Amino acid sequence: MEVEIERIPTGVSKLDELLCGGIPRGFFVAVTGPPGTGKTVLCIHFIGEGLKRGEPCIYVTTEESRESIVRQAAQFGMDFGDALEMGNLIVIDALMREGGDPWTLYTLDVRSLVDKIIEAKKHLGYGHARLVIDSLSAFWLDKPAVARRDSYFVKKVLFQWGFTILAISQYAITTSAAFGFGVEHVADGIIRFFRSHRYGKLRRFLMIEKMRQTPHDTRLWEVEIIDGKGMILKAPTPLRAEDVRLPRHVMERIAESELYQEIVGEIYGTSATEQPLDAEMRGSGEDIERENSGRGR
Ligand SMILES: Nc1ncnc2c1ncn2[C@@H]1O[C@H](COP(=O)(O)OP(=O)(O)O)[C@@H](O)[C@H]1O
Ligand SMILES: [Mg+2]
Repeated sequence: MEVEIERIPTGVSKLDELLCGGIPRGFFVAVTGPPGTGKTVLCIHFIGEGLKRGEPCIYVTTEESRESIVRQAAQFGMDFGDALEMGNLIVIDALMREGGDPWTLYTLDVRSLVDKIIEAKKHLGYGHARLVIDSLSAFWLDKPAVARRDSYFVKKVLFQWGFTILAISQYAITTSAAFGFGVEHVADGIIRFFRSHRYGKLRRFLMIEKMRQTPHDTRLWEVEIIDGKGMILKAPTPLRAEDVRLPRHVMERIAESELYQEIVGEIYGTSATEQPLDAEMRGSGEDIERENSGRGR
């Protein structure tokens, strides 16, 4: 039976095509991947598209200042400054500005975040709104084990306020300590970015790893970010996932860390060893066999 689903276009036209028109309205989508791969740029497109359609939008940034988001948008031809003035866009930052700025977070905890977002939503008025949280994982950098519970709380509370949400989660590869798994496990969809720098050139990729209630493309696409224009999806690539994901020794180091074990334990409610997520991080037997036999790269 065909069920009509309202789509919220992301503003990256090829991506919308791959999603049969866009993200289903009301979804909580995790945008994840290493630094510099285009997570923020995608979110800026999502907000820019909303503003173009006259929809109210909220952008929470814990990573950058309000001004930096406005500047980045301007480089892709989107006037966020004007939208801020017109009152169609609210950018909440975490700069803890002095002088009682109403749209600044003074503490990085999930409850204050949700309260501030609801306050902004009331300010913008009734109806559907777009929301970006860049990044949600910033709220538990020092306590990743609560990530899933907190992500669930954010999703559950904000669902009642008529948002379609992009929530960025990121990994701190260097410390192997902070993971996006909490966000990903509660999300209705996952858009994952990858990067590779072989042959002296940085390349970025994207894959729609999950999107509930909709058919979607499942290939790995090469992404380009162009000055004056923004993000485009160039072409699907024949590269294998193992060509662009973290190197095996990094994955193993993460899998062996105490924090990771704690998180997997928290997610599955039991000890981490042999749980699906754990097995995924350590690579499947087949993968290892291929690498050992030299048939891999
Ligand atoms: N005006 C621009 N022209 C070309 N590339 C840009 C421009 N602005 C940003 N980029 C590219 O986008 C990258 C940042 O992407 P971003 O979405 O902020 O990454 P992250 O995944 O960490 O959020 C930069 O490192 C740069 O390569
Ligand atoms: Mg970013």
